[in-house]
Amino acid sequence: MKLILLGAPGAGKGTQAEIISEKYDIPTISTGNIIRAALKNGTEMGLKAKAYIDSGRLVPDDVVIGIIKERLSDTDCQNGFILDGFPRTIPQAEALDNMGVNVDAALSIEVDDREIVKRMSGRRVCEKCGASYHTEFKKPANDGVCDACGGKLVIRKDDEPDTVHDRLDIYHKQTEPLKSYYKTQDKLIIVEGQDKVSDTTELVLKALSEI
Ligand code: AP5
Repeated sequence: MKLILLGAPGAGKGTQAEIISEKYDIPTISTGNIIRAALKNGTEMGLKAKAYIDSGRLVPDDVVIGIIKERLSDTDCQNGFILDGFPRTIPQAEALDNMGVNVDAALSIEVDDREIVKRMSGRRVCEKCGASYHTEFKKPANDGVCDACGGKLVIRKDDEPDTVHDRLDIYHKQTEPLKSYYKTQDKLIIVEGQDKVSDTTELVLKALSEI
């Protein structure tokens, strides 16, 4: 399966991608995670992207299109993949089409802006491995410590409330139009994000089983 996950920042794309990836045995490609790793490793691309990512603005299209082109050529993508956070603009979606990538579906997880702000304020991420937690909905076994690697849990810089509002604005202006783009291609699936992760997962897996 070749799947795009759409949705506002914090709608739960990363959370669901992890579950779908395991169930269908296909890799998740998260442009956000790739850029954050580049930033951490101090690569040229990471340094270029830093100002954008910290302030919640979109990294220029040519940079992320380059990342995706390279990643999709890896052998583990041959049987399918999940794109989490790409495309985010119409030019990015057109670039994907021009690469000859024919996705099966673009699944949009819909969550109200107010709920998003609440969720983001509770998100904590591991500064070592990037695993994601929540102070209320997905607590680690030990406060402030990553279950997976023992790393320290921190607040993502772009999860500060003002930046979250800016990211939501950008989402509505630049990314939400992708719903019409994929509706025209008859590939759009809408899932209403639920309060419980497992309830959203149930709806997502049901929708995917019907493709
Ligand atoms: P990226 O990392 O992709 O951020 P995002 O889309 O803003 O997504 P998030 O990771 O914030 O949220 P999510 O939807 O994955 O939610 P999650 O599952 O974590 O991108 C970061 C930045 O990189 C961008 O701002 C941009 O600068 C750059 N970038 C990336 N891709 C780009 C592109 N294509 N073009 C240009 N620039 C790009 O859930 C959020 C929290 O809520 C978690 O704590 C989780 O535990 C909790 N939660 C999840 N589901 C539920 C639920 N059902 N109920 C309660 N809590 C829940």
